[in-house]
Amino acid sequence: MMHRLLPALLAVAAVSAQSLSTTCQNALTSVASNSDANSCLGIGALVTSFLQPNASLVPQVQNMVNTLCSAQPCSNNTLAGIVANITTGCSAELSATGSTDSTSATITNLVQQYYPTVRDIICLKDNSDGSNCLVQTLNNVQATYGTLSINNLGPIAKNLVATRSVPANITCTNCLKEAYNLVNEKFPSTGSSLKSDVDGVCGSSFTDGSTPSNIVKTAAATSGGKNSDMSLNAMPGFGTIGALIGTSLLAMLA
Ligand SMILES: *[C@@H]1O[C@H](CO)[C@@H](O)[C@H](O)[C@H]1NC(C)=O
Ligand SMILES: *[C@@H]1O[C@H](CO)[C@@H](O)[C@H](O)[C@H]1NC(C)=O
Ligand SMILES: *[C@@H]1O[C@H](CO)[C@@H](O)[C@H](O)[C@H]1NC(C)=O
Ligand SMILES: *[C@@H]1O[C@H](CO)[C@@H](O)[C@H](O)[C@H]1NC(C)=O
Repeated sequence: MMHRLLPALLAVAAVSAQSLSTTCQNALTSVASNSDANSCLGIGALVTSFLQPNASLVPQVQNMVNTLCSAQPCSNNTLAGIVANITTGCSAELSATGSTDSTSATITNLVQQYYPTVRDIICLKDNSDGSNCLVQTLNNVQATYGTLSINNLGPIAKNLVATRSVPANITCTNCLKEAYNLVNEKFPSTGSSLKSDVDGVCGSSFTDGSTPSNIVKTAAATSGGKNSDMSLNAMPGFGTIGALIGTSLLAMLA
């Protein structure tokens, strides 16, 4: 599992260890203040976290999820606008993460392909305790690794890299089993490439394809074509955070 987790962790560590460039900060700010991006991603909530770098991110993630899961999905144009602003403003940061292919078109295509599945995963809910699955997973991470604050992301990532494993009580939950199921349904080749690593950590019942009890989808369904006319350059920046969370979630399954 670590061969997939490592790059994402290193990216988080690299980005959080350095201070963001002014152009990147501006790009993030313009995305966060773009009303289309904010209404479909709820990322405005995360801005508070950057103002309180020692406080846990989890309450703000909960706020983000509340908005994101009840709103209509972002249109592809909105996603493209976010990626364009971030890849332009944060090019230094992106190359620091060692991405080999970080052209805007490539990233846009990946984000557009994975977005509906990542959104579904972010909006899974565990009815056994009523928690959103992302929030539950982050709380589990905190129980082992300490407060998930902006300032603590780098140290936590380094800790994970150093120990080269994530405890089963974080990885092998019903929430992440259903997340794996969704990835496997939409991206079977990704699913099968993860299978043996995941089985190694969680046992083969984790990848048997059965729906775990109490896990439900909460993402609002598309009402159809309503928001497809977003201005292309309406939003830089914060989609990266969403993409990073999504990627990390996927990577943790790997
Ligand atoms: C965050 O915590 C560090 C170390 O405890 C401290 O030096 C710093 O002043 C704190 N920053 C804020 C904004 O509270
Ligand atoms: C968005 O773009 C992706 C790939 O670029 C495509 O597969 C998908 O069908 C598009 N979605 C819509 C609603 O047009
Ligand atoms: C997972 O296990 C570790 C110790 O092995 C423990 O410290 C942590 O609290 C547990 N996490 C949860 C969510 O129970
Ligand atoms: C992109 O940046 C421009 C210029 O700062 C801004 O007006 C626009 O709202 C941003 N678009 C998105 C989708 O973030």
